[in-house]
Amino acid sequence: MMRKKIFKTADGSPSLMIEELKETYHSRHGALTESAYVYIEKGLDYWIENNKKNKVDIFEMGMGTGLNAYLTYCYCKKNHIRLNYNTIEKYPLSIQEIQSLGMKNSLPHTELYHLFDWLHSSDWDKNLFTDYFSFHKSKGDFFDSTLEKKYDVLFYDAFGYHAQPKMWQEDALQICYQMLKPGGVWVSYCAKGSVRRILDSIGFDVERLTGPPGKREILRAVKTV
Ligand SMILES: C[S@@+](CC[C@H](N)C(=O)[O-])C[C@H]1O[C@@H](n2cnc3c(N)ncnc32)[C@H](O)[C@@H]1O
Repeated sequence: MMRKKIFKTADGSPSLMIEELKETYHSRHGALTESAYVYIEKGLDYWIENNKKNKVDIFEMGMGTGLNAYLTYCYCKKNHIRLNYNTIEKYPLSIQEIQSLGMKNSLPHTELYHLFDWLHSSDWDKNLFTDYFSFHKSKGDFFDSTLEKKYDVLFYDAFGYHAQPKMWQEDALQICYQMLKPGGVWVSYCAKGSVRRILDSIGFDVERLTGPPGKREILRAVKTV
């Protein structure tokens, strides 16, 4: 078990650092800012705006602190969109780690905080439902993901290339491609040239977008067929 240290990011929201790897769960320039910008604005909102649907199927690689899942739920609730959210996590954080982190205190929508708790306290590997939200968190390895279900948006939130090079190579990115529906959107904080070239060679339509604070660019890739 690797040791994790809690630290405060530039927008005041907390994150975790894996000390041995010097790898963080979020950007030091703002965990909440990064998540809201990369995954919600450039991934989910982009797909909704282009597809004008009131239902969305999302897959997140690496549930971690639940920040992306919570912000997605808030967005969907506000916009009256039915949400089906599936996520996988190989190294789940314990309830104690989540409580010590105190992420909830920096999140918007205090009236929905119970949902943040529920994301963490609910059972692994079960289909769960609340109002117009269905949620499934799998405890396991992304490389063993089932490819039966297809998604509209895929949040690719693995650790960085230097910590987990395998997550940024063709095998992993091919799985992403297989998991998306035609028109589906893959989005990540990563902007590495080699990742962009692999996404492109797999058949994605890849865009480099302006990044959140502290990051020049991020990647968004659309499965056009
Ligand atoms: C950069 S963190 C992001 C976490 C999360 N999205 C959040 O906002 O807190 C990467 C996450 O991916 C998980 N992870 C790493 N490798 C994985 C794998 N092969 N399969 C599933 N999860 C993995 C890590 O345990 C960690 O929770």
